[in-house]
Parts: sequence; structure tokens; C-alpha cells
Amino acid sequence: MRAVIAGSGSEIARNCVTNEALSRIMDTTDAWIRERSGVETRYYIDAGQKTSDLAVAAGQKALEHAGVAPSEVDLVVSATMTPDHFFPGNGGIIQTRLGIPAVPCFDIRQQCSGFIYGLGLVDAYLRTGMARTALLVGADVHSGFMPWREGSYRRLAGDVDAPLADGEWEVNSESRHLSVLFGDAASAVVVKAGDEGGRGVIDHILRADGADATKLCVPGIGFKHRPYVSAEQVEKHQYVPFMDGRYVFKMATTRMAEVAVELLTRNHLTVGDVKMVLMHQANKRINEYVQKMLELPDEKVIHNIHKYGNTTAATIPLLWDEAVRTGRIVPGDLVLMVAFGAGMTWGATLVRA
Ligand code: ACO
Repeated sequence: MRAVIAGSGSEIARNCVTNEALSRIMDTTDAWIRERSGVETRYYIDAGQKTSDLAVAAGQKALEHAGVAPSEVDLVVSATMTPDHFFPGNGGIIQTRLGIPAVPCFDIRQQCSGFIYGLGLVDAYLRTGMARTALLVGADVHSGFMPWREGSYRRLAGDVDAPLADGEWEVNSESRHLSVLFGDAASAVVVKAGDEGGRGVIDHILRADGADATKLCVPGIGFKHRPYVSAEQVEKHQYVPFMDGRYVFKMATTRMAEVAVELLTRNHLTVGDVKMVLMHQANKRINEYVQKMLELPDEKVIHNIHKYGNTTAATIPLLWDEAVRTGRIVPGDLVLMVAFGAGMTWGATLVRA
């Protein structure tokens, strides 16, 4: 038995935010963002919307695409680093809102590697017969991390004369190397146990190294503090992620190329055997670098970072969903997925569509 991806679906947040719009609320430019990251637009949720709203919508579309009824799902895996609540996680919220029975619901938080970690978990459950039909959702809402206030959101929405509070521009600019990269989205796959023509997850390698955990993390709001959240942490904006961008960039390029080669080699394959490589979308320059290291021709690589930015656990299923719906991936194609994210976590997965 293999874990076969039987359907997929995505939900992008409603509000398109251009680079030019961001330059109305912080010291940045369209040219810098495009050149350094490849991002042109990203989408943010409305105030009051939640990660689970996007996740449920994506899950619904994936179930419809797969022709699977909620009652058939016997495993839910939710990958997000931005759950609705500190606890419980979003797995059960997704399960109940989709009308899925009281099945096991896992919440995993491997950030940008969340989807391939989730697929590894689903694969293990399906191969061992512990489940037959899984819903795996990668969903993240980054806009809530940012220390922006009402005036900033009004300017983003097009009110160019909306007043910013004292110091707001400066505060927004402090996190500009991060905020410009990320967007809000969810994408889901339905994975079924099957043994048709070698389809499904073939192999995966998942890795983690906590030695670099603080190179990319949220420094405040956690149980290393007592209480875990305080006015002082909020005043110091310790809820905004910290990222050593250059270091993460270097690790991402090295680890993604390394693990892709290791996985192909141990399966006696080369990039020539692969139809498509789906790389996590953190920075277009990272992926161009990895593409070069792997000697991948352009037609084997797809990007969507220019449209959506980095949507963390949603990037790889989003690529999959778009490629399947546009016919760039068809049943029988060999697909390599590669990711790197906070933790540090990384890995690669080989799937026959
Ligand atoms: N607009 C204008 N200028 C900016 C911006 C901005 N948005 N952000 C930074 N700058 C400035 C800096 O202040 C700096 O100015 P200085 O030279 O005067 O000091 C200059 O641009 C260069 O800054 P760097 O941070 O060195 O820029 P770099 O080329 O490294 O790009 C980036 C930064 C885009 C963050 C890059 O390092 C990167 O993509 N890193 C990896 C991100 C990643 O992979 N994350 C992992 C996934 S995320 C997850 O798992 C949650």
C-alpha cells in the first residue's frame, strides 16, 4: 500500500497586498523586494478571519477534488505555525467544521517543512494500515505576526492618506526584512491508501537540527517566560519573529540541495527521471540557487512566490494543486518535493502522482 494523493485544494486570503502598498507603511521599495526575494504580491486575511477558516476552505476543496466524503476520512493532519489558539491546535477544528468523524487529528508545527513532515506521517499511517483516507492541510496566516496598527492596514487597503501613529513607520520598518516575504494561505491534499501502478509516496527523508533553533524563531510568547505572555514582551515586539536572514539563506540552499541528491541517489534516480521539482517558496533566489546546484532545467521547476509570498506550510501543496489543475502534473509523473524551514527542519519527498 502506498499513500496516493487523490485530490487537492487551496484557499488564498482575500486581500492582495502589492510591494508598492507595503512601501506606504514602511521603508521599502518594490525594486528591493522583487530583486532580493522574487515576491511581487501576497495576500492577507480580513481582520477577524483565522488560519482555520482558510484551512477548512482548502480542505473542503480537496475533498471535492478527490471525490471523498468527510465521513470517509479517518485521519487529519494539520500543519501550521500560526494556529487559532496557543492550544488546542487546529486539527480538531478542521475535523469538526468539515463534518469529519471523531478520528485522530494531529497538529504538527515544522514551519516551512510542515507539509512534507505531514506527508511523512500520513504515509506511515497509510502504509501500516492504521488509516485509509487522510486529509493533510498546510495553512498559515502571517499577517498577525506584524506589529502593524489600524493606520497601516488602512493604507494597505488603499487609503494613502490614512495617518500613521507616532513611530509606526519606524516600527513597521524594523521587521521589513520579514514582513515583505510572507502571505496568508492554506492548501490541502486528500491522501488515500492505494496500490495502483506504483502511484503514491515512494520515499522521504526528514531531518531536523535544533542547534540553530534561535536563528529563526519567535523570541517571546512562550513557556520559557513566566507568565508565557506579558506586557513587557508585547511592548518589545517579541511576538514578531526573529530571523537571521543571511544564515537561513545559506542553510536553506545547502540543506535542500543536499537532501534532494541523497533521496534521489538512494532510490537510484537522477533529476532526469523527475518530471517536476516542488521547492518550498521562501525566496526565489534560494530556489534558483538550488536549481543550479541540481542542474535542473527551467521546465522542471515551478514558482509561485511572486504571487503569494512565503505561505509556510501551504507552499508545496499550493504548487501541487496548481500544477495538477493546469495539467503540468498528471498521474504517473514523478515529483520531488523539497523544503527547509525554522527548527531547523528540512527534507525531501518523492511522489508518483
Ligand atoms: N526593503 C528595503 N531594504 C531592506 C529590506 C526591505 N524590505 N529588508 C532589508 N533591507 C536592507 C537591510 O536593512 C540591509 O541594509 P544595509 O545593507 O544598509 O544594512 C540590506 O537591505 C541587506 O539586508 P540583508 O538582510 O543582508 O538582505 P538579504 O539579501 O540577505 O535578503 C532576505 C534578506 C530576503 C530575508 C534573505 O536573507 C532570505 O531570504 N533569507 C532566507 C529566508 C528563509 O528561507 N526563511 C526560511 C523559511 S521561513 C520559516 O520557516 C518560518
